[in-house]
Amino acid sequence: MKFLFINGVNLNMTGKREKGVYGSQTLDEINGEIASHFPEDICEFYQSNNEGDICTKLHTADCDGIILNAGAFTHYSYAIRDAIAAISVPVIEVHMSNVFKREEFRHKSVISEVCAGTIAGFGKNSYILAAESFKLS
Ligand code: DQA
Repeated sequence: MKFLFINGVNLNMTGKREKGVYGSQTLDEINGEIASHFPEDICEFYQSNNEGDICTKLHTADCDGIILNAGAFTHYSYAIRDAIAAISVPVIEVHMSNVFKREEFRHKSVISEVCAGTIAGFGKNSYILAAESFKLS
């Protein structure tokens, strides 16, 4: 299968910011582990801090499934929500942390309703579990 992993705002700081929440591995290290978990599949990785660039990446995605950690955009970006609704490739929402155990503003996702499902709370394995679920379906 062909997977596109999209990471949104501040995810480039993974490994440097809030290590107690997001761990000490960098995003590149995590992406390397994800790719080695799926040796028979094609994994593309994209990160941006810009909402519009993420929308454009969604519009132009050519793959079987998208694994999206939109970061804080999750909680307020109607633009990303509309971009997901505009495409036919299925999108799974992921979060490394268990957002439901954290501040109340993180309990609300404006993208969940247009995603195939949500996986949160398993650290880097949230990405792997999401991609595995595409393989099961
Ligand atoms: C996050 C959770 C978001 O609330 C937060 O803004 C992030 C990362 C996660 O992976 O747990 O940047 O999406």
